[in-house]
Amino acid sequence: MYRLTEAAAQYLEKLTPEEQAYIREKLLEKPVKGFVTADHLVEILKERTVIKKSDYIYAKDIDPQLELYENRYSASNTKTTSSLEDFIKYFRNRFERIKIMFNQFDEKYPSVELKDLREKQKFSVVCMVYDKGKTKNGHISLTCEDLTGMKTFIVKKDSQIYKWVSEEVIKDDIVLIKGTWIGNIGIVEDIEFPDIKPQSLPKIEDDIGILYISDTHFGSKYVLKDAIKRLVDALNGKNDLLGKYRTHIKYIMIGGDNVDGIGIYPRQELELEELDIEGQYKLFNDFLEQIPDYIETVVIPGNHDAVRRGEPSEPIDKSLISADVHLLPNPAYVKAHGILHLLYHGTSIDSYISQIPRLSYEDPVTVAVEMLRRRHLSSLYGYNPITPLPMDFLVIDMVPHVFQTGHIHKIGAKKHRGVIVLNSGAFQAQTPYQAKQNFVPTPGKIFMFLPKQPKFFQISLIN
Ligand SMILES: [Fe+2]
Repeated sequence: MYRLTEAAAQYLEKLTPEEQAYIREKLLEKPVKGFVTADHLVEILKERTVIKKSDYIYAKDIDPQLELYENRYSASNTKTTSSLEDFIKYFRNRFERIKIMFNQFDEKYPSVELKDLREKQKFSVVCMVYDKGKTKNGHISLTCEDLTGMKTFIVKKDSQIYKWVSEEVIKDDIVLIKGTWIGNIGIVEDIEFPDIKPQSLPKIEDDIGILYISDTHFGSKYVLKDAIKRLVDALNGKNDLLGKYRTHIKYIMIGGDNVDGIGIYPRQELELEELDIEGQYKLFNDFLEQIPDYIETVVIPGNHDAVRRGEPSEPIDKSLISADVHLLPNPAYVKAHGILHLLYHGTSIDSYISQIPRLSYEDPVTVAVEMLRRRHLSSLYGYNPITPLPMDFLVIDMVPHVFQTGHIHKIGAKKHRGVIVLNSGAFQAQTPYQAKQNFVPTPGKIFMFLPKQPKFFQISLIN
């Protein structure tokens, strides 16, 4: 208990309810001997730091909820000798895990394995495309294999799916073929990809924000330093570029190509301002150190980072990064506040563009959708290097709510069956190589996601 002098009581009455409550709380915490004077109250009030609305950081009061699936990561560092046997095991693992993703129940087309195909019988079979060609008569021939053998299928040139198969089905695709077996070939009536089932976002209580960036390419002469500085300033409340949700940002996902690397392509040294890999990571680390402490930052490597080139790649070595961030492999699953993310740098995007005519570098997000449809991040063998671990970590076995890629330096997003598919652009201006290819990147732009609302939008950090 405490007793106030008359002057103190009058002083207290004139204060706001918040100030009165603060003083009462402090007087109970630290009792004053004898009467409490007005001077006491003035002193107590001086200690109170009034939080201006603009200084209040919502995300500081929110505990992080981050699930990192670390068991998967330790397994992704398993050693492999890349022997023929390792590759066979790897492809079997891929096939078996994708096979169960198909809905194979169809009364009209009983499910079989390739060894069980019988004359004049209808069938549905899951198999991997070994080769695709044309017959003398202009039909498409598909040579496919499963764990029991290899068979040939024909898509007739007058069939309704002919154009689709000719443009969309590529080597190493795992597909469900429905048809009729005649003689020693299967006449195809339908083909399906495993694809994902329609998804919806979970309900999120906390009004947190997630930022997506990638391809900062520290060490390159073409890094947009001004845009990086604007981002750092924005995160620290020194400019308003992140808008009113700046204080809600709880997570930053960084999608690889964090440094430009050394010897990634011929004569790269001419385009570097930092020729030492450790020096490049120091620049990246300096950037990470400037991200406020209450934000959880997740970093995966890209094909320019100092990691194994064959995917999956291990996380960036801890000796290169001292900032308090989560270093994960490529690809990686991360659940942030209930939102499951699949982070993949996107190196295989080139291989899909080389094979499917409708895809282009102008729209890397549509390429990423093809990965979801195939339930695999790099299905085409022989283009993007693969590390044949006993388990294929490139299989998309968990369907994410958000699928982030980078690599192409072209920002974009779309929804596929409820999944937000995004390409997080870059912080590197057009390079001479890109100029030669007539490729115009979209650097200095990032995405913000507010899952509670839900809202998803682009923010520009360039003038
Ligand atoms: Fe890149």
